[in-house]
Amino acid sequence: MTILDGKKIAADVLAECQEEIEALKAKGVIPGLAVVLIGEDPASQVYVNSKVRKCGEMGIYSRKIELPVDATQEEVLQVVRDLNAEEAIHGILVQSPPPPQIDEHDIINLIDPRKDVDGFHPVNVGKLVMEDPTGFVPCTPSGCVRLLRESGIETSGANVVVIGRSLIVGKPLALLLMAKGVNATVTVAHSRTKDLAALCRQADIIVAAIGKTGFVTADFVKEGAVVIDVGINRVEDATKKRGFRLVGDVAYDEVAPKCHAITPVPGGVGPMTIALLICNTVKAAGLRVQENS
Ligand code: GUN
Repeated sequence: MTILDGKKIAADVLAECQEEIEALKAKGVIPGLAVVLIGEDPASQVYVNSKVRKCGEMGIYSRKIELPVDATQEEVLQVVRDLNAEEAIHGILVQSPPPPQIDEHDIINLIDPRKDVDGFHPVNVGKLVMEDPTGFVPCTPSGCVRLLRESGIETSGANVVVIGRSLIVGKPLALLLMAKGVNATVTVAHSRTKDLAALCRQADIIVAAIGKTGFVTADFVKEGAVVIDVGINRVEDATKKRGFRLVGDVAYDEVAPKCHAITPVPGGVGPMTIALLICNTVKAAGLRVQENS
């Protein structure tokens, strides 16, 4: 059984990005990312801070914009309009999920697709469907596919079950996995799927992206399967200083012994997501340079 080291592979991905960052800097361009956080959701705060910290480590410009939990739709839209117009910003990310009074779709639709480093805008979703490489692909799914590729896991012809159909992970991941070059046969399962455990037992690769602690148990997994755990859930843990620890959607202890390979939580998909966000920001800056030359 191999534990897939997301931290190590993310570091390799970032090393490649670093070269592109230096090349842009040599042309007088510093890639810039704006991260918008609405409200005080503790998990979102942690993710946003990790993204901003990584930008700093990589020598790219970042700005965290924090709006109060009762911010209005118009206030958020205005922030996005301003960021769309700002030269120093190449990438815009509005952390999800926003508070309930905010219509996330309207916000996403307003982001300039050329700055949509999350890949959530309909233009970029369309480009993903069409396998047009000029678009932006959502960071977590592209991180999962990169993790599989760099780990030498065969996807061509593999039966993959993706559990979860979200815009952030499940749907774009299914598209990436079935694309030319990756060539998996993909089944997307969700809360209404019948006999999920039996379906998953057919899978060579299982991707869990449902947000439920320990949802994927040993009876979901055939011997020798690969398991990718996208979940990041908090469980109370009095032995930890902060009072909780992070666990995935997979019951790791019982599943890992059956696997050919498995991602840990933390240290699996999470670092890949941040690495791919940096890559997307650098790509956005590079495309802008091309556009202006
Ligand atoms: N919330 C959880 N994952 C993500 C992500 O990749 N992007 C944004 N904007 N919000 C998220």
